[in-house]
Amino acid sequence: MRRKLVVGNWKMNGSRQTVLELLGTIGARSKAAGCEVAICPPFVYLDLCNLVLSATDIALGAQDMSEHASGARTGEVSATMLTDFRCRYVLLGHSERRTSHGESDETVARKTLQAIEAGLSPIVCVGETWEERQAGRTYDVLARQIHVVADALNSSGQLMSLTVAYEPVWAIGSGVTATASVAQDAHAFIRQCLARHSATASQRVRILYGGSMKPDNAAELLAMPDIDGGLIGGASLNASQFLSIIDAAVRLEAVQ
Ligand code: PGA
Repeated sequence: MRRKLVVGNWKMNGSRQTVLELLGTIGARSKAAGCEVAICPPFVYLDLCNLVLSATDIALGAQDMSEHASGARTGEVSATMLTDFRCRYVLLGHSERRTSHGESDETVARKTLQAIEAGLSPIVCVGETWEERQAGRTYDVLARQIHVVADALNSSGQLMSLTVAYEPVWAIGSGVTATASVAQDAHAFIRQCLARHSATASQRVRILYGGSMKPDNAAELLAMPDIDGGLIGGASLNASQFLSIIDAAVRLEAVQ
């Protein structure tokens, strides 16, 4: 069975003060034992988050990393630097990076391999734009994004260490959420794509939903058979909203 995973993506938000307040509340009340929880703050707050979360089960993740191991790469952060800061996860290929930083599927694939080889669990984000959905190209886009990454990996063991986040671009930060059935269809399709590489891995890989997941829609989305958790942007910056989403995941874990 796949344990639910709820990940907060703070994007370029927060301050030292926010880390103390937000994580103080989330860390103290989160029933993380019932489901897995991770926070992805900006790089500069990783160390402080680590300190605040040290007595909790909440894992740490980064929002991106370099595709290179080390060297003359001004401004970049490597996979081993993230493990040095006790990161377990790293978000890769978020649509904001694909759009504003020109990250291609191939770049995302190289980063994914680099992350796995350094011992991180990459959370690879995929998803179609509204125009692609309207043009009936959703599944073509998802298949391409998944296959390029899976082809770059060397074994089904590597594929198993992946988490995928289905984030329809039109739902990110827009307040418009995919309906549970639209999301479930996309998740089931992503699992079929993974099965072309390894049937075992396709059953183990967690597929998170991201895109305006909030306390009022989380339970319905998380109840879908192929939705194994959430990647939460805006609502992860509000302790009570984030805790409500965690509670929804914990309740579902309890009945499964
Ligand atoms: P959102 O962001 O929850 O604010 O839509 C999700 C994401 O971009 O990961």
